Amino acid sequence: INQGNGVKGLSEMGLKALPKQYIQPLEERLSMNKILDQEAIPIIDMSKWEDPQVAKSICDAASKWGFFQIVNHDVPVQVLENVKQATYRFFGLPAEEKNKYSKEHSPSNSVRFGTSFSPQAEKALEWKDYLSLFYVSDEEAFALWPPACRDQVLDYMKKSEVVIKQLLQVLMKGLNVTEIDQTKESLLMGSMRTNLNYYPICPDPELTVGVGRHSDVSTLTMLLQDEIGGLFVKGNEGDDDNWIHVRPIKGSLVINVGDALQILSNRRYRSVEHRVVANGSKNRISVPIFVNPSPSNMIGPLPELIASGEKPIYKQVLYSDYVKHFFSKAHDGKKTVEFAQ
Ligand code: SIN
Ligand code: FE2
Repeated sequence: INQGNGVKGLSEMGLKALPKQYIQPLEERLSMNKILDQEAIPIIDMSKWEDPQVAKSICDAASKWGFFQIVNHDVPVQVLENVKQATYRFFGLPAEEKNKYSKEHSPSNSVRFGTSFSPQAEKALEWKDYLSLFYVSDEEAFALWPPACRDQVLDYMKKSEVVIKQLLQVLMKGLNVTEIDQTKESLLMGSMRTNLNYYPICPDPELTVGVGRHSDVSTLTMLLQDEIGGLFVKGNEGDDDNWIHVRPIKGSLVINVGDALQILSNRRYRSVEHRVVANGSKNRISVPIFVNPSPSNMIGPLPELIASGEKPIYKQVLYSDYVKHFFSKAHDGKKTVEFAQ
């Protein structure tokens, strides 16, 4: 019915009601009474990242919240603005242009235009379109990524690397791992993927989700969001089903710990569930960079932690198997990590 123009196509048809495939079961929707508004996730000033106090606040945030926002980081505001514009440009292309990158037509697995999360595995669809770009090399990106956004995404990834390295250095130091050699670098940031997410205006946002509850499979995720808001993070205390809004701050980047870092750190750092609500009046975009182990790596608790006498909570798993497992099912909270137990 939407000629392959994703959820954006549906949204722009001016539907009065949400198509029933998008109606999520009650327990998957985020009701207002579960939203905590007095708490806020930490905001960290990266201009002083080497200061021991700041380093401690990064490690504490990664243990306690699994989420924080960084300000005064080294990624230029213009680079962030350019990647946002590039996102609008890509999703604004005619359906037939975007579909050159769909599962059926994409010349490569590393470029994928799609909608929802794992449509074949989901009971109800999610109200989101995306373009996912796995980085292999500049040459491949020039050859295969959409020209509408290619240069801006590459620039964003390159400029982000400095900050990602600072964060990983601090987080490793917090585990008494003082040197990031090549083996560690491959475990921590051996591959990267950037997604452009587009959440169109939804006719009935209460009945569906933008993204269902999940934790990321990355080591770290760095997320650029626009000023609309809608990302919620599970509160850190106990089993209460409480959710905290990640307030948009101009120029900030949201950082979260993914399952791979939880596993490598033997659960000292936590990947935390999060979700995105749909919006009834505004289109929203976000641009996460997933910093991942290399697909061919075995991941498990770092040898330094085990050597210091900790009992390993996870077994060794091949990272590409872990990722495959994540994508084989619908979003299901924090269940993916059980794959490594
Ligand atoms: C996600 O976690 O999958 C998306 C986050 C966002 O769009 O804010
Ligand atoms: Fe996520």
